[in-house]
Amino acid sequence: MIMNLFDVYSLYEIEPVRGNGNYVYTADGTEYLDLYGGHAVISIGHAHPRYVKAVSDQVAKLGFYSNSVQNSLQAELASKLGKVSGYTDYSLFLCNSGAEANENAIKLASFHTGKSKVLAFDKAFHGRTSGAVAATDNPKIVSPFNCTDNVVFAPLNDLAAAEALLSEGEFCAVLVEGIQGVAGIRLPDDEFMRGLRELTKKYGVVMIVDEIQSGYGRTGKFFAHQHTGVQPDLITVAKGIANGFPMGAVLISPEFTAVKGMLGTTFGGNHLACAAAIAVLDAMVEEQLVDNAAKVGAYLLERLKTIPQLKDVRGRGLMIGMDVDGSASEMRKRLLFEKHIFTGGAGVSTVRLLPALNLTYSQADEFIEALIQLLK
Ligand SMILES: Cc1ncc(COP(=O)(O)O)c(C=O)c1O
Repeated sequence: MIMNLFDVYSLYEIEPVRGNGNYVYTADGTEYLDLYGGHAVISIGHAHPRYVKAVSDQVAKLGFYSNSVQNSLQAELASKLGKVSGYTDYSLFLCNSGAEANENAIKLASFHTGKSKVLAFDKAFHGRTSGAVAATDNPKIVSPFNCTDNVVFAPLNDLAAAEALLSEGEFCAVLVEGIQGVAGIRLPDDEFMRGLRELTKKYGVVMIVDEIQSGYGRTGKFFAHQHTGVQPDLITVAKGIANGFPMGAVLISPEFTAVKGMLGTTFGGNHLACAAAIAVLDAMVEEQLVDNAAKVGAYLLERLKTIPQLKDVRGRGLMIGMDVDGSASEMRKRLLFEKHIFTGGAGVSTVRLLPALNLTYSQADEFIEALIQLLK
């Protein structure tokens, strides 16, 4: 007998063993253009030299020590993140994943207001831990244990429905994605986000924006909600934050008072994760990657919109969804095995593009040409 893996993932018959920039390679040296970054995680490109050096140097010095001692890397990360994101007056809580970031944000909102209900939206995805999965609109992944009356779903972009619920006075938080990712790149209207901010103020509810997939420069601004002008109370991040090293975080408005012991984690904010996350921010600033995501994303979006066989194309920056006529999973397989291009999927007909923020115009062209050939 040998131990097998618990078989919960549908796998492609392919194993990347090496990466470089926007490409990954199998053991036989075959090159694949990566327009997915392993679920929007690779933000500055595979094996970025600055990242490799920072992580290697740090692990050789000190990979981990607990949150019971000074760790100046955490302070450096917070100060750089505040500056790059424009949220210098917010504070930072570090954890290990997106779900955990949402879990802590919900907990903070509940501590802060003394209330227990969360308003989430149809088709939302917030992760798989207890509270995060309860706020995820997919009954298939919500176990009876996770199912709770504390989460109520409203239709996205319907302010009247949100107000009807919030006015009940039982809600601690509204939890909304900057752009819904797993749902297939569904954008909340700018007006809806602004209206929601007003409602949360009116009813004393904490506004949490989940920027785990849509944040960290992906949409051409640091956070997707910054296209709308709102300023949430709590912002959750993960995925691109450390270019593949597991990390999550909550940005917390000055309205919240920290109490010793109210939140905590063993691994969160460890030295290695911080070194990785600092290297990501340094690379983003030095290479102007948010700006690049805006420009190359707009170019890609525009070119995709001229392809008549695509049923719909939408997104912001390098967070793009395109609906194909037929099966998205078939199209993704053809892109992967015939054209050597990784993409993501959502639902039956949506192909998701979530490449690293340093995608070039010529890599965007490489994808468009391949797609046009497949659609002929
Ligand atoms: C918007 C959003 N929130 C939360 C999560 C959960 O993140 P993690 O898988 O790191 O727990 C995801 C992951 O896809 C996500 O897209």
